[in-house]
Amino acid sequence: MQTCDVVVLGAGAAGLMCAIEAGRRGRRVLVLDHADRIGKKILISGGGRCNFTNINARAENFLSANPHFAKSALARYTPADILALIEKHGIPWHEKTLGQLFCDRSAQDVITMLERECAAANVEIRPGTRILSVSRDTGFLIETLAGPIRTSAVVVATGGLSIPKMGATSFGYDLARQFGLRIVECRPALVPFVFNPEDCSRWCDLTGLSTEVIASAQTIAATITARGLHPSFREKMLFTHRGLSGPAILQISSYWKPGEPITLDLAPNSDASPEVFAPLLTTNARRDPATALQALRAALPARLAERWLTLNPPARWTNTALADSERDLHEWQITPAGTEGYAKAEVTAGGIDTNELDSSTMQSKRVPGLYFIGEVVDVTGWLGGYNFQWAWASGAAAGRAI
Ligand code: FDA
Repeated sequence: MQTCDVVVLGAGAAGLMCAIEAGRRGRRVLVLDHADRIGKKILISGGGRCNFTNINARAENFLSANPHFAKSALARYTPADILALIEKHGIPWHEKTLGQLFCDRSAQDVITMLERECAAANVEIRPGTRILSVSRDTGFLIETLAGPIRTSAVVVATGGLSIPKMGATSFGYDLARQFGLRIVECRPALVPFVFNPEDCSRWCDLTGLSTEVIASAQTIAATITARGLHPSFREKMLFTHRGLSGPAILQISSYWKPGEPITLDLAPNSDASPEVFAPLLTTNARRDPATALQALRAALPARLAERWLTLNPPARWTNTALADSERDLHEWQITPAGTEGYAKAEVTAGGIDTNELDSSTMQSKRVPGLYFIGEVVDVTGWLGGYNFQWAWASGAAAGRAI
């Protein structure tokens, strides 16, 4: 029977980083993955260019039932550390926006880098391996279709539920339950919204229209509220044929609770009421749709301005209603019917309850030798390179401890 020190389940960003760190310390490491090739999500990430970190990553950029949990790992493997590795391999990169670092060429560069580091650390990677069971006596016994493996440590890095067609499974959550670990309920995050039929008939023909907004969620995750932080996101929003998408919407979707509205400032560049609606008040424009449209077009894309006026016709506007309408423009509240679900979600929020894990090693408090890292843990980053930074940091934390 094959024996080794560490078996990492899942050859994604977190699993490979963990394997590299453990292998460098002389551990005999085997990485198993059921997919035919490693790092599939890395390959499609960032539109094929992998937004591999965010130079501003801090614990505040992550959602978790325990907002302090990620601090230790993030502090010990920083964006500068992954950037140093990228540069060591001569991979050209650029900062796109808001601290987001991308490969100039292709995400394949990151996969090749991880493969080379694994080889240098004598890590064995076995893609195409079906894992049948994991059980524990003095160490762990892993049954695979290719035969059993004995190991003293198991690292679960099988990722979240997003994009099942890329090979996502509930394996990590099932294994955690098998060993009696608690799970924070999972939900799709960084995901587009869908409208109900009525809202869709009002807005969905604007599909393809993109505009800058400030998005915020009515209800902010309790833990974040407890820390006094109410994140809002000033980025692009995109109308789709089913609802809303774009970076601002993906960001706020992680904080959204079903049945509750999101709030959108549709005219973030015109902050005070005189900017948009003063011309209407002073020129008696409530009887002059052309003036109203002109005023609105200064603040919104033309098609959106027209639609806004169609749904809020000037003839019905009193001065009070004008002021209300201006407020609505800055605080448009709309209640999504739902999200596009795991098929379109970039990540899975929720996961292994962080109370079950040691924050500096990612080891289970109940089951010594069992580790959970990456997206399968209840730590979810904002859009913009934060999720890979968590994968690197949590992977390194476990790899340095095993
Ligand atoms: P990951 O999902 O990467 O790896 C898990 C591995 O486990 C996979 O190789 C899988 O095959 C394997 N596995 C699953 N079940 C198994 C089983 N039963 N048996 C054996 N193996 C199993 N983030 C970011 O920071 N910047 C970005 O640019 C993007 N872009 C992006 C685009 C798209 C389209 C998506 C869907 C996601 C992103 N993300 C992102 C998120 C990022 O990809 C994600 O958070 C990390 O890949 C998570 O890394 P993990 O290693 O935890 O899981």
